[in-house]
Amino acid sequence: MTRREVAVDLGPRSYSVSLTLGDGPALLAERVAALAPSGVLLVADATVADLHGGPVRRALGDPPVALVAPGERSKGVAGLEALWTALREAGLDRDGLVVALGGGVVGDLAGFAAATWLRGVRVVHAPTTLLSMVDSAVGGKTGIDLGGKNLVGAFHQPSAVVADLAWLATLPAREVASGLGEAWKTAVLAGDPLLADLERAAPRARAGDPAALLPLVAACAAHKAAVVGRDEREAGERASLNLGHTLGHALEARALALGHDLPHGAAVAIGVAFACRLARALGWLDEPARARLLAAGAALGLPLAPPWPVTLDDLRPLLALDKKARAGRLRWVLPRGPGAWGLAAVPDDVVAAALSSRS
Ligand SMILES: NC(=O)c1ccc[n+]([C@@H]2O[C@H](COP(=O)([O-])OP(=O)(O)OC[C@H]3O[C@@H](n4cnc5c(N)ncnc54)[C@H](O)[C@@H]3O)[C@@H](O)[C@H]2O)c1
Ligand SMILES: [Zn+2]
Repeated sequence: MTRREVAVDLGPRSYSVSLTLGDGPALLAERVAALAPSGVLLVADATVADLHGGPVRRALGDPPVALVAPGERSKGVAGLEALWTALREAGLDRDGLVVALGGGVVGDLAGFAAATWLRGVRVVHAPTTLLSMVDSAVGGKTGIDLGGKNLVGAFHQPSAVVADLAWLATLPAREVASGLGEAWKTAVLAGDPLLADLERAAPRARAGDPAALLPLVAACAAHKAAVVGRDEREAGERASLNLGHTLGHALEARALALGHDLPHGAAVAIGVAFACRLARALGWLDEPARARLLAAGAALGLPLAPPWPVTLDDLRPLLALDKKARAGRLRWVLPRGPGAWGLAAVPDDVVAAALSSRS
């Protein structure tokens, strides 16, 4: 049995991210039992509940279940209200526990419901998408959308994270690619050896091979855990994890409005490629570094430019919602090379030029 443990070191709020292959339900039940909750509400993505819910429910002793319809649209006020109602109906008290089984949508939504129910109950994340395993289940950001992505939320660290990479066997290829978008982002920030490992494993990673993905997921989770351990509340370094997200979030909002299909990690990948172009234009990246970083994204099969025409004017109102903006000025997270980054204000003409570039 393959098993990896990644520690998230946050003093009294420390926890472990457990990655396994095949025995997720039993391991999840073990971690939940260790927390000795007075009751459990299992919040599950409806698709995941069909595919993998049976063994999880049995292992947890058939707790009440709240199903969440798949998709970003569930991550809103109505979805949150449904979970609060389920928590009331389940009678979950202060010593109760929410278990979130699904991707980032369920993790963010159930995490925020847990953060706010009775002013906060514990949550355990059981991420089932590659994206949630490498990124969203770690670090304690929870929240919902309100006309813009993640505009309402709270920091609420989980008490444990348990991911079974065998769950990825049923994940559609587009969702594998979406997770690889965040993995690429992490590798650009972490540099080598993660970047080299990802370059080497790209073909197997693209194919969704769980054995190849396990060490990569562990390395991505470890990078995020280290950053969050140093800067839990995003006073500084944690902002680096927003690489690719300023443009990515704006493209996601635009896609939602236009009815286009754009997974989060694909939007992030386009944003990372964009950040590499901006960094090149500012002289932060030399040409070999720009070429290497973009080639890694291409090897992973990621989109590197918006799939439909988009101008700076289209995006300006969406970019203004970026949480890194201060006094109306956008600050971009840009790579300074593999493993190095910085924040920069970028002139409009440079942004507009990079938006129309495909190289
Ligand atoms: N909190 C954070 O730090 C953080 C970080 C990154 C992203 N996010 C958020 O995460 C969300 C995206 O998460 P996501 O990419 O996991 O998407 P998702 O939760 O929408 O899941 C994607 C799709 O995969 C399906 N699915 C999930 N697991 C499956 C499995 N094992 N087999 C088959 N199908 C499965 C779901 O039903 C859904 O249709 C966004 O809302 C984003 O804002 C949060
Ligand atoms: Zn993200």
